[in-house]
Amino acid sequence: MCGIVGYIGKKQAYPVLIKGLERLEYRGYDSAGVALLENGAFSVYKKKGKVAELSKFVKNKNIKNFSGGVGIAHTRWATHGIPSDRNAHPHLSNNGDIVIVHNGIIENYLSIKKVLLKKNYKFKSDTDTEVLANLIEDIKNNAKVSIDEAVRLALLQVTGAYAILVLSKDEPNTMVVAKIGSPAVVGIGKGEFFVASDATPIVEHTKKVVYLEDREIAIIKNGKLRIKTIDNKIKNLYVQKLETKIEELEKNGFPHFMLKEIFEQPESLRNTMRGRILVDKGGIKFGGLEKFGKELRSLKSLTITAMGTARFTGLVGEYAFEELAKIPTKVEYSSEFAYRDASVDINTGFIAISQSGETADTLNAVKEAKRKNMLTLGVVNVIGSSIARAVDAGIYNHAGPETAVASTKASTSQVLILIMLAVYLGRMRDLSKAKAQEILKEMQRLPNLAEKILKNANEIKKLAKKYSKNNNFFFLGRKYNAGAAMEGALKLKECSYIHAEGINATELKHGPLSLIDKNFPSLVIAPNDSMYEKSKTGIQEIKARGGRVIAVATEGNREIKTIADDVIYIPKTLEILTPILAFIPMQLFAYYIAVERGNDVDKPRNLAKSVTVE
Ligand code: F6R
Repeated sequence: MCGIVGYIGKKQAYPVLIKGLERLEYRGYDSAGVALLENGAFSVYKKKGKVAELSKFVKNKNIKNFSGGVGIAHTRWATHGIPSDRNAHPHLSNNGDIVIVHNGIIENYLSIKKVLLKKNYKFKSDTDTEVLANLIEDIKNNAKVSIDEAVRLALLQVTGAYAILVLSKDEPNTMVVAKIGSPAVVGIGKGEFFVASDATPIVEHTKKVVYLEDREIAIIKNGKLRIKTIDNKIKNLYVQKLETKIEELEKNGFPHFMLKEIFEQPESLRNTMRGRILVDKGGIKFGGLEKFGKELRSLKSLTITAMGTARFTGLVGEYAFEELAKIPTKVEYSSEFAYRDASVDINTGFIAISQSGETADTLNAVKEAKRKNMLTLGVVNVIGSSIARAVDAGIYNHAGPETAVASTKASTSQVLILIMLAVYLGRMRDLSKAKAQEILKEMQRLPNLAEKILKNANEIKKLAKKYSKNNNFFFLGRKYNAGAAMEGALKLKECSYIHAEGINATELKHGPLSLIDKNFPSLVIAPNDSMYEKSKTGIQEIKARGGRVIAVATEGNREIKTIADDVIYIPKTLEILTPILAFIPMQLFAYYIAVERGNDVDKPRNLAKSVTVE
């Protein structure tokens, strides 16, 4: 999704902005641009394609020295108008006085545009953003107000979700940031300020940040930062300290972030559990939940909402909450929960799962749950993100920054947190200490078991090569591994562009089986668990119809080799924990196939890391 970056200070803005855009590349985008305030006017450079193409384009202009210490920049993920140089941000207002970058959507831009057209404003792009630039110019000129006031007055007329960054050439010492829905962070340096969609472009410059809340405007003027609301109320600055280290944002010798993040899973699983597992007591410590003991005890049901991978991890969690805590649980698309009249009561707990903490659909679901007076819990990886701040109580994944668009280490951490939460809620109810201890002990082995799977990465690479020419794939699993199968299919399709369907294995004979032939292989998750015999039958049914099968099976299972065409072994563990291990070889499989097919693995086409629009 779009990314915004801004700099105002004593350094040259251009290199800071370009580096910032590179840091935001992981979010997914189709064009990039920069505007610099130099010698009283804006220089705007923008290009369809990668940030590297923008840099090349600027380099070819042979500019000896960028004088400006003020600038804004953008990576665009097209919503209004095709990806093109013309539609790329930044956008200038008609008289060139104002420049803006924008993440999100201005819903009523057409009606505003109509009014501006009548006033003879001209538009060079198809974007909603250019409309906002001209609206701000119009207000600034007619009301004769400062740029921050013009932005505020303009936003009173605007509906939608957005984060914007605005400069005016008449006020070279001012930068204005505002947001509703989409994220914006201000970094405070020594005599300089950084603005970005998330903290990744800021980490290398300063650890002091202010996360803007919805309907807030940050005004950086003459070296000072002030915050007010769109309704003109002054707010106190809440400065937070960033924990992210710069090394965490680099590839560290791996060819892709996705592979690095897959290989980080032993460590991310360790970090997810660190200081939280109390084996002796058969309990879990979640600092963020401590204040809510009474409410958590009285929960009678749970609704989990999430999107994409996070929703699939929720499907694993659903089984865990019912088995360990005996709490009826359902999993919904956040987007649906936000708009349908979900029937809930005061004893229905709400869990939002989100790696980025910025997914617009999930954030909307949290708002709706709060409106319904539900206790809202968040399972979020990015500290200080919008969802983390919106929920009543939360559990951070501590999986570390995830840069590749395809979620890997955050997803295994999500499953782990949900199982830990099921133990936590279970211990408030009927779950015995002995059973909890058994699970917790086994959980602590997971990082080592994940390491064992990663040691076999080369075997999975060979398998990926063998299957890389197929155009279709089924991923099948039962019970805890039904959600895992869906996740495996999503991983393959998003990275390799191979059509893949993830379904509960039992569903196969109710229709999908008709698709099976020798060119339509299936990956079946079939560990030695309560569903093993059923999974075996599923494999036989596929084989009987000429289909090829890769089985993900428990180490030591020789029998499966005689049924399936290929086998990927995962170590033996408790049934409830198998999906965490099953995720890993499927991630590697998707990764290696995508590499084999020559795809841009970290930034698959058409996708964005942080989906901040509905
Ligand atoms: C797939 C993937 C997406 C996200 C989904 C939700 O690999 O990453 O499906 O899981 O967009 O994102 P978050 O977890 O940030 O809310």
